[in-house]
Amino acid sequence: AQRKQIDKVLALFRLTREQLVGVRDKMRVELEYGLKRDTHPLATVKMLPTYVCGMPDGTEKGKFLALDLGGTNFRVLLVKIRSGRRSVRMYNKIFAIPLEIMQGTGEELFDHIVQCIADFLDYMGLKGAQLPLGFTFSFPCRQASIDKGTLIEWTKGFKATDCEGEDVVDMLREAIKRRNEFDLDIVAVVNDTVGTMMTCGYEDRNCEVGLIAGTGSNMCYMEEMRNIELVEGDEGKMCINTEWGGFGDNGCLDDIRTQYDKEVDEGSLNPGKQRYEKMTSGMYLGEIVRQILIDLTKQGLLFRGQISERLRTRGIFETKFLSQIESDRLALLQVRRILQQLGLDSTCEDSIVVKEVCGAVSRRAAELYGAGLAAIVEKRREDQGFEHLKITVGVDGTLYKLHPHFSRILQETVKELAPRCDVTFMLSEDGSGKGAALITAVAKRLQQARR
Ligand code: BG6
Ligand code: GLC
Repeated sequence: AQRKQIDKVLALFRLTREQLVGVRDKMRVELEYGLKRDTHPLATVKMLPTYVCGMPDGTEKGKFLALDLGGTNFRVLLVKIRSGRRSVRMYNKIFAIPLEIMQGTGEELFDHIVQCIADFLDYMGLKGAQLPLGFTFSFPCRQASIDKGTLIEWTKGFKATDCEGEDVVDMLREAIKRRNEFDLDIVAVVNDTVGTMMTCGYEDRNCEVGLIAGTGSNMCYMEEMRNIELVEGDEGKMCINTEWGGFGDNGCLDDIRTQYDKEVDEGSLNPGKQRYEKMTSGMYLGEIVRQILIDLTKQGLLFRGQISERLRTRGIFETKFLSQIESDRLALLQVRRILQQLGLDSTCEDSIVVKEVCGAVSRRAAELYGAGLAAIVEKRREDQGFEHLKITVGVDGTLYKLHPHFSRILQETVKELAPRCDVTFMLSEDGSGKGAALITAVAKRLQQARR
């Protein structure tokens, strides 16, 4: 009987082929809505123009600074690009962003960022150097040009006050002015998906999609200008940051959302928002698992029916723990040891159930990603009128990189749901910072050509 109860919970996370086809088709509808000028009242996928219109052509060169904010790590980088040989050298330093800064005031956040830049310049012996800077800022921004970006709303773990509705480039400039120690030429603000696509596009000209499966979930791609109503002009292409994490915020995924998804949403910093992201990305998968474990324990099916203080603690199951628990090389005894580390005392049976729960949650996430990606590659194929499309997707993020099964299931699902597309996945090795520098280099070149 116990087994039956557990299976009933796990079954909520199993999606049929029809359901996945449904997700793919709904995503397609939302992508099209988002591209319309008078955005459809229920449109939740933002489809933000990025003003990035082409891939680097190999003639880029110079020294650039890059900031990379919004993922697991905040980094400051120095990127040296040499033309011709397509070689890029990078130096970077990781800085912590304490929780009180992530959720403090905007001024404190940007002062902290500038403090980190100052430390980095000091460390590199570059004080006083006036370098062009590319800012990877991994949140939804409304852009009117490559060097302007108004934060629409915070997502993931950030909630600094007085930033939403403001231009993040202006905020950074003002913080630099407040410090009055150095000057920087901020040339571009870039989403991490876009940086990832650029990094991969530097090596593979077929790369027209950027995918992040990390703390958050998002995708960008190259769209035909004629399809982008918000931007003047019909020639060529522009990269669109879809912000697909907001997919489902109008209720269109309610048929597959579970009570656990709702609990995770309600306990988050942005209830009601980013519902697809909350079913798919690293910041939330562990929380879904925790909600299920609490429920199973309440039903007396786990941990001898005792809900420990630890199990009540938000955020204990980070992506790296899920990845370890699901690794096939791990004996159950080791799973128990990981649970022990997390402060959860488990029997052998408990550890089997926990592993199954993790597997069900991460499999659904990978399948949902696959359905979303299938929608975009199919759209690209149809828009270009091709029978078959060969396309490369640049990917980054801890979930994709660390999880033992996520990438395989994602790839299998895309193949299944977009059979006429031949999709190559290319892992971005250097994060989005390099892409931001490449975009900065292109923007700088164009700026100089205009003068
Ligand atoms: C990398 C970037 O491309 O991937 C990060 O350099 C980005 O800034 C990240 O946000 C996504 O991964 P995660 O798992 O760190 O959120
Ligand atoms: C969140 C952000 C988005 C970012 C993604 C991955 O969804 O809103 O801008 O690309 O996380 O980091």
